[in-house]
Amino acid sequence: MSSPTTSPRLAVIGTGRMGTALIGALSPHHRHILWASRDERRSADAVRRIGLDDHVRPADHEEAVKQADIIFLAIWHQDELDFVERHREHLAGKTLVQLANPFTADFTDLTTAYDTSAAEQLAEQIPEARVVGAFKNIFWVVFDQPQFPEGVSDLLVTGDDEAAKATVMRLLDPLPFRVLDGGTLRNNRVIERMTLLSREIAVRYDHYPRVAYRLLGQEH
Ligand SMILES: NC(=O)c1ccc[n+]([C@@H]2O[C@H](COP(=O)([O-])OP(=O)(O)OC[C@H]3O[C@@H](n4cnc5c(N)ncnc54)[C@H](OP(=O)(O)O)[C@@H]3O)[C@@H](O)[C@H]2O)c1
Repeated sequence: MSSPTTSPRLAVIGTGRMGTALIGALSPHHRHILWASRDERRSADAVRRIGLDDHVRPADHEEAVKQADIIFLAIWHQDELDFVERHREHLAGKTLVQLANPFTADFTDLTTAYDTSAAEQLAEQIPEARVVGAFKNIFWVVFDQPQFPEGVSDLLVTGDDEAAKATVMRLLDPLPFRVLDGGTLRNNRVIERMTLLSREIAVRYDHYPRVAYRLLGQEH
């Protein structure tokens, strides 16, 4: 782990919708981000396309897990469980930022039971790492247009390791979202279900995929 006086080294795993959105949001504020794909040519193409090669460097999974202190997993839940199993030896003490909502393939339910969440399952799978949940309630297109009529979207950050959660919250602070401490990983049982519900409502009212929310009313 880097000392507190140096910036943590970041990696984003996955070049899909959320990986691309995250790179776009993080790269103006952080240098030396590794963007990793299963196929390094795909991440090299993605870096070229986005035109940020002085801040973002393409990598494979192996290099990303070895080099980075904080690893954003922009991949699906089953894939992240397999990913941590494959790279366990390099993940001890690292922070994994977990985005996954464990939706069924038809987006009508979750694959997890009511007494757990994708975030908790990941933490159980890799107890030697520090899991922080984030971005579950923000859909990929919202990164491009974060302003809603009520203001920017809340970004709920959860974690059982308070120091890791605080580090991630600081890191996300410059992003165009209202970063809120969402409590412990257990709260993802609710957050992941709220995301499913907000998606359903957005589809019903023809707002999908502009899905995000603000939880707090006016300040005292
Ligand atoms: N889409 C949203 O609005 C949204 C919002 C909140 C949270 N999330 C969560 O974010 C995660 C990613 O969603 P997404 O919409 O970005 O999905 P996506 O567009 O399908 O991207 C997923 C990426 O995962 C990588 N991948 C595929 N199979 C893999 C495997 N077996 N092992 C490792 N990596 C693999 C691929 O990147 P490479 O080809 O580069 O390897 C792929 O582009 C999901 O867990 C989702 O629940 C999504």
